[in-house]
Amino acid sequence: MHRESKDQLQLDRVLQPIEQATGLPNECYTKASNFTLDRDQVMADSWVCIGFGSDVPESWAVPVNFMGYPLLLARSATGELRVFHNVCSHRGMQLVSEPGKLGTGLIRCKYHSWAYDFEGNLKGTPMIGGTDQNTHKDFNPSVNGLKQIRSTVWMDNIFVNLSGTAEPFEDFIAPLLQRWSKWISPETLTELQPGTHAKMEMVVNSNWKLAVENFLEAYHLPWVHPGLNAYSPLEKHYDIDRGENFAGQGSSSYTTPAADTGSISSWPHDQKQFAEYPVLYPNTLLGLQSDHFFTMTILPINETTTLERVQLMFLGKVATDDSYQDHRTSLVNSWTEVFSEDIFAVEGMQAGRQSPAFRGGVFSPVMDQHTLHFHQWVANKLSTNP
Ligand code: FES
Ligand SMILES: [Fe+2]
Repeated sequence: MHRESKDQLQLDRVLQPIEQATGLPNECYTKASNFTLDRDQVMADSWVCIGFGSDVPESWAVPVNFMGYPLLLARSATGELRVFHNVCSHRGMQLVSEPGKLGTGLIRCKYHSWAYDFEGNLKGTPMIGGTDQNTHKDFNPSVNGLKQIRSTVWMDNIFVNLSGTAEPFEDFIAPLLQRWSKWISPETLTELQPGTHAKMEMVVNSNWKLAVENFLEAYHLPWVHPGLNAYSPLEKHYDIDRGENFAGQGSSSYTTPAADTGSISSWPHDQKQFAEYPVLYPNTLLGLQSDHFFTMTILPINETTTLERVQLMFLGKVATDDSYQDHRTSLVNSWTEVFSEDIFAVEGMQAGRQSPAFRGGVFSPVMDQHTLHFHQWVANKLSTNP
């Protein structure tokens, strides 16, 4: 089956050296069946960011649809966050349809009122044994709880591994933490907190992969971001050494932040103009600057529609203090402006993928190395997974 799909998609052409390679074919961006392949072969086997911890206050349950799968984010009263399949074990009702606080500590199905705790245990099965019997000798609640999904939270990003077989998250993130340790230790990094009123989101009419690919290269800066390019020009950008699961850009001309805007004190003084923008494959786009951090998570809605969600994080009172709200808002606005400038390009590439004359395109052997790296990473997932 997968051999067929690999041959149909002509992925061998993608796996060639950059001088000969073509990109992923149009079908990978335009066909609904390939969207399902992306979910089941590219996403499921990886660590995928599906939202932010700040979306889920204590005692809240928040439904999330990830590429057609109904999932549930649930944070207990004591703060642990778990991710479940959002489906009742009884008759398969979607368990939670709206985000909300569940002060009772129970997640109750609206159909026959079965109830689960925040650890997913089935705690109530009213009348399962008849109108006056809430138990039955042949029914074992302990094996009928919610189905939990392997998950972790890093930098307030909720990562899931749907297959359960990806490498441990610590191993997945270690090369990036090692890379960044010259500026900020992993411990200090985790002290950054989500900014209050520091999120934004945009819907883009393109396949999710084009949003990722656009973030991987700085080649388009002079034409798409003339404002950004004036103070952080293309020639001051460099390729981040590709790891197995990430690649991206760095800049050596980030505007050094003012001391009172949360500049990270451990960051070496003569390095504050460095900033890096890696993609953790497949869908987590990061930005680390010497005064703030952001994540953009790329959430595929269907094969031609993608939701981009961004959250900024800061150290100490810059994250939450009212007196810094204007500062946070102005950073959100300036990133929104930059990311908005990319939309026409990403949507234009999607439109171009309706053309029978386009057969994956070609790559600059210098400027497009990361783009091809991502194409090859996707092609390998499509080729090797069952
Ligand atoms: S389907 Fe949920 S209690 Fe029946
Ligand atoms: Fe861009």
